Order: sequence, then structure tokens, then C-alpha cells
Amino acid sequence: MENLVEIKNVYKTYFSKPNAFSKKIIETNAVNNVSFNIKKGEIKGLVGESGCGKTTLGNMLLKLTEITKGEILFKGQDISKFNKNETKNFRKSARMIFQNPYSSLNPKMKIKDILVEPLDIFKIKKNRDDILYETIFSVGLNEDDLKRFPHEFSGGQRQRIAIARALILRPEFIVADEPVSALDVSIQAQIINLLIDLKEKYNLTYLFISHDLNVVKYLCENVVIMNKGRIEEMGNIEDIFNNPKTDYTKTLINSIPRLEI
Ligand SMILES: Nc1ncnc2c1ncn2[C@@H]1O[C@H](COP(=O)(O)OP(=O)(O)OP(=O)(O)O)[C@@H](O)[C@H]1O
Ligand SMILES: [Mg+2]
Repeated sequence: MENLVEIKNVYKTYFSKPNAFSKKIIETNAVNNVSFNIKKGEIKGLVGESGCGKTTLGNMLLKLTEITKGEILFKGQDISKFNKNETKNFRKSARMIFQNPYSSLNPKMKIKDILVEPLDIFKIKKNRDDILYETIFSVGLNEDDLKRFPHEFSGGQRQRIAIARALILRPEFIVADEPVSALDVSIQAQIINLLIDLKEKYNLTYLFISHDLNVVKYLCENVVIMNKGRIEEMGNIEDIFNNPKTDYTKTLINSIPRLEI
């Protein structure tokens, strides 16, 4: 299988701003020399403790945050060298699902407007209604839901709407940043199964970010484990469960609650 995404020796350094209490600038190496590939059609897991750099890496993959050093290739092309038109196409092809379905949807917008907004931004005029209905049905919601506002939905349904918004441009690659962490365990399984169905239906590739190795084990064959900005270990998830190389990985394995799927 070919690589859709290649991450080569990527770094992200944040610098604190001097303030009244300290003139010293503090450097945070949020992502520190990370390299791995994501194959086309794969669901790659990215796991690690809070603050280890998962979201920062996901944001860099989608060109939402600049890379300090290193290279990210999408279909063999360096994303930092894209021109305006290539960037536009990339933004259509590579989308994000955010962790919190309560804060990621504009409460003042009806679901229809939330979903057509990306179509407006990318000036997609053809077959808009077909795209809209197909998308809303494919995430398990219906036509009437388009007239409602986000607060009228449960957490799981809101995450379905967030998924629909990511899906409406028919992307190839989705970074799902802790998409089920804010949901009840019973609802988590439904959303995970939906993500699997959609991957098959739309030939998607995912980077699935989570702090929960148990969820990742259900979804992913291969996982990357991060610790303080660096890769701790990576490889086949079964192998890592059977033979964790470090104490950090062992702690992640032992700290997971069981998910009934
Ligand atoms: N915009 C920013 N400015 C400065 N530091 C930042 C910024 N964003 C993240 N950081 C720092 O970079 C490090 C990695 O943060 P990041 O949000 O990527 O971690 P994470 O693994 O996604 O954590 P969580 O599991 O809590 O979501 C943390 O030390 C964080 O404080
Ligand atoms: Mg995060």
C-alpha cells in the first residue's frame, strides 16, 4: 500500500512571550523529531498522555500550524511548498474532527448552515442538495435534523454532525482528534463503528488521536505512541500490547478502562 502521508523528522517549538514576571523566553519542544508514515486506507492510532504533542502534530499535518523543522508530504508533495491553489485543494482533501462536539459547532447556526458552510467556502455549486442529504444520511441523521440547532442534540448526535461537516467535502484524509473522548462509553462505540463504516464507504484514511489504547486497539492495526513530543515506540498494536518496550507504554496499557464494543 502506498503512503498517503509521510512525516519526516518533524519538530514544533513554541516560545513563551516575556511578561511582567519573567523576561526569560521558555522553549517548549511540543513535537520533537517525529517521523512515521500513514498508508492510504489505514487508520493510524496516535496515543500518549495529555500534553505529549498529539494535537500539535495533527494540526501540522493539516497545515493548521506551521512546522518548525522537518517535512510533511501528502501524496508525495511537501505541504509547506503548496501554492495557493494546491493549498485550497489540500484543505478540501484533509479535514479535522475535533474532540469536543459541544464547542466545535456554532450554537447559533442550524445544522444545514453548519454543513453547507464548507461548500460555500470552497464554492461548490453543483449537486449541493444531493451532497447534503447523502452526507446527513450517511452519519445516521435525517432531513428534519437539518432545521435544528446544535443544542437540540445529544453529545453523540453532535459528534455525528461534526463528522458530517468533515465529510461533506469528500476528503481523503481525516485527523480525528480524540473524537470520542468527551462521550459516554456506550455512545463511544457507536461513533467508532460509524467512523469505520464511513472509511469503507468513502475510502478514507484516518489519523485517530486518543489517550485510550483500548479504543485504538479496536480501530487500528498500527499505532504511534508519543511521550513528551517524541515517539516512544510504534508498530503493530497487538505486538505492543503483548510486548510493551517501555514503562511509559506499560502505564498506558494498564491505565485503560475497558470499552465494551
Ligand atoms: N499555541 C501554543 N503555544 C504554546 N505552547 C503550546 C501551544 N499549543 C500547545 N502547546 C504546548 O505544547 C505541548 C503539546 O500540546 P498538545 O496540545 O499538542 O498536546 P496533546 O497531546 O494534544 O494533549 P491533550 O491530550 O491534553 O490534548 C504542551 O506542552 C502544550 O502546553
Ligand atoms: Mg490534544
